[in-house]
Amino acid sequence: MLDLLITNATLPDGRTGMSVAVQDGRIAEVTPGLAAPAHETLDAQGLLLAPHFVDPHFHMDATLSYGQPRVNQSGTLLEGIALWGELKPLLTADALIERALAYCDWAVAKGLLAIRSHVDTSDPSLLAVDALLEVKRQVAPYIDLQLVAFPQDGVLRSPGGVDNLTRALDKGVDVVGGIPHFERTMADGAASVKLLCELAAERGKLVDMHCDESDDPLSRHIETLAAETLRLGLQGRVTGSHCTSMHSMDNYYVSKLLPLIAESGVSVVSNPLINITLQGRHDSYPKRRGMTRVPELLAAGVNVAFGHDCVMDPWYGMGSGDMLEVAHMGLHVAQMTGQAGIHQCFEAVTTRAARVMHLDGYGLEAGCDASFVLLQARDPVEAIRLRATRLKVFRKGRLLAETPAATAALHLPGRGDRTRWMLGEH
Ligand code: FE2
Repeated sequence: MLDLLITNATLPDGRTGMSVAVQDGRIAEVTPGLAAPAHETLDAQGLLLAPHFVDPHFHMDATLSYGQPRVNQSGTLLEGIALWGELKPLLTADALIERALAYCDWAVAKGLLAIRSHVDTSDPSLLAVDALLEVKRQVAPYIDLQLVAFPQDGVLRSPGGVDNLTRALDKGVDVVGGIPHFERTMADGAASVKLLCELAAERGKLVDMHCDESDDPLSRHIETLAAETLRLGLQGRVTGSHCTSMHSMDNYYVSKLLPLIAESGVSVVSNPLINITLQGRHDSYPKRRGMTRVPELLAAGVNVAFGHDCVMDPWYGMGSGDMLEVAHMGLHVAQMTGQAGIHQCFEAVTTRAARVMHLDGYGLEAGCDASFVLLQARDPVEAIRLRATRLKVFRKGRLLAETPAATAALHLPGRGDRTRWMLGEH
């Protein structure tokens, strides 16, 4: 007797009429039209069943702090960093934990069950580190929360930066972070990449650095990150986040850079909502988009994923934990409006993001965790177009969240009353 049998599901790869059998929290079988006894059966009615959403780049220590102590007036990255600096002395562990847990509630409701969050290690008290380690413990039954030791003020630029970051790793933070473009000089930035990659290699940790979050075409720390990855044998274990300077780089240089990134197995995480908002702020017109070269990276064989980065914090006053909104913005900014491009954007917030995080048991195949989302959409294209309702969210076979289908009751003169199920049906 199965624990759960889902029938008549459409999968992201286009297969229809699929049954997904669940036993002991794992997917036992994925096959068309299976009829088997189960404690619980769910007819998907032809809708899309997708593996849960994954956010490979977030800042949970800052989330839901919008307006504290004031709002970012210029809308720039640098005012955001300054504002975060004003907020840090006012932070308490309790308030930080409360905000983070509230965000995790939103995340689960949106089918977002794995998050890689950077946590600022610049404060020697490591208050935010301790708070997010506590959040990680509390949400473990329903969210995979992976933490990155992130030296927001620069690991070399801020006093005690290396010591603080190392102590955060000692406390159990999972990934080594960095911010080379925020160090004092290009040389210091390159030195920070080298130092942090060596630290990760010594400790067997993954690496995820904020890399070249700038409009400066000469900010080329991604090159050093790829080269250090190769030198230290860290292929497949390193991520460069943002990489917005690549938007402004010389095309000839990029033609040499892309194969290097591909060779190094470095993943790139773009954050479309934030990159389109924070970059290009010093331009008049035309204004640069300031997002990295997503289609070109994908074509070169690089794993590219999309992150949310910020929700209602010193850098960004919008957002709701909806990775379909992130994918929606990504496909617009990168002009990935062809069918293949839209599917790649869906992968950027599911399978490709899971690869960044090295998630075990992720996917919709026999043997994977039964962690998936039933969407009010018939395929990934419709899911992104509608930012589709998450009808049901399961983790390891257990129902975590339900949201009623979006419908509209219409009262139209001459046409009577009718209900539209908001799939965009004609
Ligand atoms: Fe970030």
